[in-house]
Formats: sequence, C-alpha cells, structure tokens
Amino acid sequence: MSAFSRVLFAFSALIIVLFFLTTTFPTSFSFTNTNSFSHFLATFHANNNNNNHSPSSSPNDQTHQHQPILGLWRNPFIAFKGINDISPSPASTNQNISRAISPDVANCGPVELPPNAITEPFCCPILPSPLKIKDFKDFAKPNAPLRVRKPIHLVDDEYMAKLEKGIAIMKSLPKNDPRNYIEQAKVHCVYCNGGYPQKPPFQNLKIDIHRSWLFYPFHRWYIYFFEKILGSLIGDPDFAVPFWSWDSIEGMQMPKHFANPNSSLFHNLRDPAHLPPYIVDLNYHVGADSTTQDQQVSYNLAFMYKQMVLANTKEVFMGGVYRFGDQAQPAIGSVEQAPHNTVHKWVGRADLPSQEDMGTFYTAARDPIFYPHHTNIDRLWGIWTSLDGGRQDYRDDQDWLDSEFYFYDENLDLVRVNIRDSLDTKKLGYVYEEFEIPWLNASPKPSRTKLERQAKKASFLASQNPITTTTATKFPLVLDSKVSVAVTRPKKLRSKLEKEREEEVLVIEIVDLHSDKDVKFDVHVDDDEEMLSGPDKAEFVGTFTSVPHGRHKSKTRFMVAISKVLENLEAEEDEIIVVTLAPIVGKGLVSIGSIKVEYILK
Ligand code: C2O
Repeated sequence: MSAFSRVLFAFSALIIVLFFLTTTFPTSFSFTNTNSFSHFLATFHANNNNNNHSPSSSPNDQTHQHQPILGLWRNPFIAFKGINDISPSPASTNQNISRAISPDVANCGPVELPPNAITEPFCCPILPSPLKIKDFKDFAKPNAPLRVRKPIHLVDDEYMAKLEKGIAIMKSLPKNDPRNYIEQAKVHCVYCNGGYPQKPPFQNLKIDIHRSWLFYPFHRWYIYFFEKILGSLIGDPDFAVPFWSWDSIEGMQMPKHFANPNSSLFHNLRDPAHLPPYIVDLNYHVGADSTTQDQQVSYNLAFMYKQMVLANTKEVFMGGVYRFGDQAQPAIGSVEQAPHNTVHKWVGRADLPSQEDMGTFYTAARDPIFYPHHTNIDRLWGIWTSLDGGRQDYRDDQDWLDSEFYFYDENLDLVRVNIRDSLDTKKLGYVYEEFEIPWLNASPKPSRTKLERQAKKASFLASQNPITTTTATKFPLVLDSKVSVAVTRPKKLRSKLEKEREEEVLVIEIVDLHSDKDVKFDVHVDDDEEMLSGPDKAEFVGTFTSVPHGRHKSKTRFMVAISKVLENLEAEEDEIIVVTLAPIVGKGLVSIGSIKVEYILK
C-alpha cells in the first residue's frame, strides 16, 4: 500500500467506527475510565447543551471533552483542522436535555475508603420509605431578619454556648434520626467518597463534589441544612453558624472553644501540637517546619492573596466543569487546594494514615470544627465573586445551575436542591458580617531582581540540550523529585484589552494521582530550583494538594492564573517561562501529563 492509500484506508476505517458507535451504541453500555469517552457517550445521549458560552473553553483550551464531539464526526473535515479549531457546532435538536449532575439517591452504595480506614464503608443516609422527596421551597420571607454569620473571634461565649448546645443535642439524637450528628457527618462522606452513582446510563460513574464546580454550592447547601437543623434543635431559628476566619489575623488560631475538653466542640482526633495559640499554616503539609509567628502571618496573607485575588477566573478559582456523564474531579479550584485542604490537614492527626478526622473526607465532618471551617470557605466564595467590581462565575451555565443535591431538613423531610437556588444567600436567609480583609493588598514581591531571574533562566535554557520547550522533558512525568520545565507561551506581550478579557493560565494535567494518599507539590515560575522561594514570594505561584479520597487512581487538572505573576516577575516579554514542580508530600505518587500555557476567558 502506498502511503496515500494507507492514510485513506485509516480515515475510512475511522469514519466507519464513528458511524457504528453513534448509531448502535447500547444504552446500557458501561465504562469506567476514559474522560473523553464518557463525554462522547454523554454527547451521544444528550447532544444538547451547546451553550454559546462554553464555560471552560477558550480558543486554546484543550478541554475538547466539552465540545460537541458528535458534531465533529458529522463534519469529518473539520477534524483535520485539529481539535482546537473546531468552532461550536450548530445547536442540535435536543436543547432541553439537561446535562446537570444529579445523584441517584435510591442507589447509594458503600463508599471507597483509604486503606486502614477507621470506620465502616457505609455512609448512605436512611431513606424515607416510601421514598418521598420535596423540592426546596423554604426561601426566606422578603422582610424577615437575616441570620448573620460572624467570625468566631467576634462572638461572645453566650453565642458559642448555643453552638455547643446544638451540637450536643445532635450527638444525643438516636442513630436513626437524620439530624443525628454522625448521620450528618455521613452526608459529607457519601458525597465525597463515591457513595452516589450518576443516573443511568452513567451508573458506573461515581459522583464526587470535590475538585469541580460543585465544590462551593454543595458545601453551601450542606452548611445551610446543618444550620437550620441546629437552630431548630436549640429553639432559635435565627441562629447562624459563626465562621473560623483563619484568613484574618485574629482568626489564625484554632478557636479556643474547640480546644476545651469539656465542650461538645472538642474532638479527640486532632493534632495536639496545633492547639491555640499555635498559628495556622494555610500552606500546611504534614511534617512542615514551623516558623516564627510573624513570618507565618505574612506567609498566610500573601498566600490568601494568591488564592483569591490572583485566581481571577472561574475555572481557576471554582474548579472545572463537571456534567452528567463526566468523570469526577475535572479540576480543582485554588482555595479548595489551600487553605481548604491544607486546613483540613492541619487540624487532623498527623500520626494517623489519612490524618483523620479532619484530614480526610470520609471522617472530616465528624469534627465540629468542620462547620466553622466551611462557613469561612462559603464566605470566601462570596468575597471572590465581588472582587474587581464583580467576577464571572458559572451562572450562565444551565447545567451548573440545574445540578442537584439531596439533604434532610429540620423537619426531617428529604429535600432536593439545585445550585440555582443557592446563589443568593439572602434568599436562603443569611449573610456574612463584613469586616476588614487583611490580605486584599498583600501582593507578593519577587525574591530576586530581574537580572538575577533572567540569568538563571538563560543558564537553565542553555543546559537543555538542544534548546527545546516542553519536549525536553518526557511526559508523562512521574513527580519523584524537583523538576524544571521550559514552557512556551503562545502569546507574548498581550494588549491591555486582551489581558482584561483573558487570563493567562498555567495548565498542569495530572494523569495519574494516587487518590488514597496525601499528595502535595508546589509550582514555581522563573525561580531558582536550588533555592526555591517561599509562599510569600511572587515566584511561588501555587500548590497542588490532595486529600485522600478512596483507593482509586484519578486524573485531574491543576490551573494557576499567571497574568499578574508575569507582570510582577517582569517576564511578560519572554517567550519561555521556566516552571519548577517541587514534590512536598507523596513523592512519586503523581504523574504529570503536560504543562501548558493557555488563555481563558474571564
Ligand atoms: Cu467536602 Cu472541606 O470538604
């Protein structure tokens, strides 16, 4: 066969296979592990949702799984232009089929636990029989007083006594009462460790509300029902769960009530070294060296600035797009990595295999500090949305808005909620007390001068033989030691307008992550590999942290916004940036598939 006929043959075979797949696919077909395949199937079953606004796709964004792949085969010639060039295909007929995630509550199963787990794998809540589900309607009355969630360091003991009382009552309720404290904690376990499957035909895909756009809204609803249940149990429906403001200077210690052994807020499975007045490390990892209090405070503030202010696009801050038929954990958001995961770890017992209870999701909500921790996370979501005069989240995306969860309410009814109804906290009857935010201007400075950085970069590039970009390093790359990679920027010197519209994002594909282990690696740009900068410096751009989920291996992606970083490092005119990955915990337990610079619409 000549080369030409071989190409022709391969092409016809491809077309025949695609035709076969799209016409004869049995609906019961099951699969477990390829992302694009699940998207293909999802597109096949619900070929709709060609939102003009395709949330995670910028022209350079290789999230081809969000493109209508079926549309691709209908016009096979487009395929030759490469996946990046496909313009959205015309709207298809089934516009109304939702591709929103909704757990199949009737088919809850055992969860996946890390090895040496200290509980049984049963987290499914008791279901009413017959199964009766109410749709959420309990919006706050327009003129009713709002519940005001305050920082713990600004509420008095009397107020904290209400929280203590509520938790004590919940702990005393019988096991078969869904308001029982452990039953509530299991709700977190079931949504985090794969207790719920997606609905057919995707029953082999387990739902996970972490590492995706479900992270903030799921936890908002979870805390909402916890608060309502607690308020009703103490006879104070206006009670608001106070928040642990670890991002404010006064809040950077474990709140003292939680450390009092006589309180219902006390919990045994916590790191005894981290009791007050020890200052929290928002970039913590097990075994981290401690530093002086002042240094820790300034690390924390600069770190908050990075995770909140610099993370200025929805994908980077909130996590990746996750629809019906998708694999779980598409991409993890900045604050979810840290401080969210890191504070979980900081509280848990460093000497237990998964840092139970707070350090791993199946047990985290058994520690009462989980709730004020997450109230603060919920507050930060609101603050992020308000930065820069209003930031764009996913609220134009119907599938996000339609995504559903189920919770028991204070009347013991099983209630179905969606993300749409969670967006305005006033409609849910609560707001956050506003007070000064100390990290808003804590912009990190570079550790070295421009001259020093450029000299470092030049000598690194000279050592790469021949001078190529990412091909100089073999991917997939098992991250078992520090590694630096030259990454080409597709655009240099963008205009002001371009910068306003699109964020430059460093996209790190994680192709193999051991989900049962604690993993953390830091990411640096134009730094010195031998003397890496600390978290308060501009060269330290982010950290990937993983809280053990289950036994499986997973894929996900990690994104860091770098427009501002490159400005700070005076590297905007450079064609190449040097990206250093430094494994901190779990060396060798993560493989990197690629490192790229992409431009993502804000
Ligand atoms: Cu669902 Cu703090 O975790």
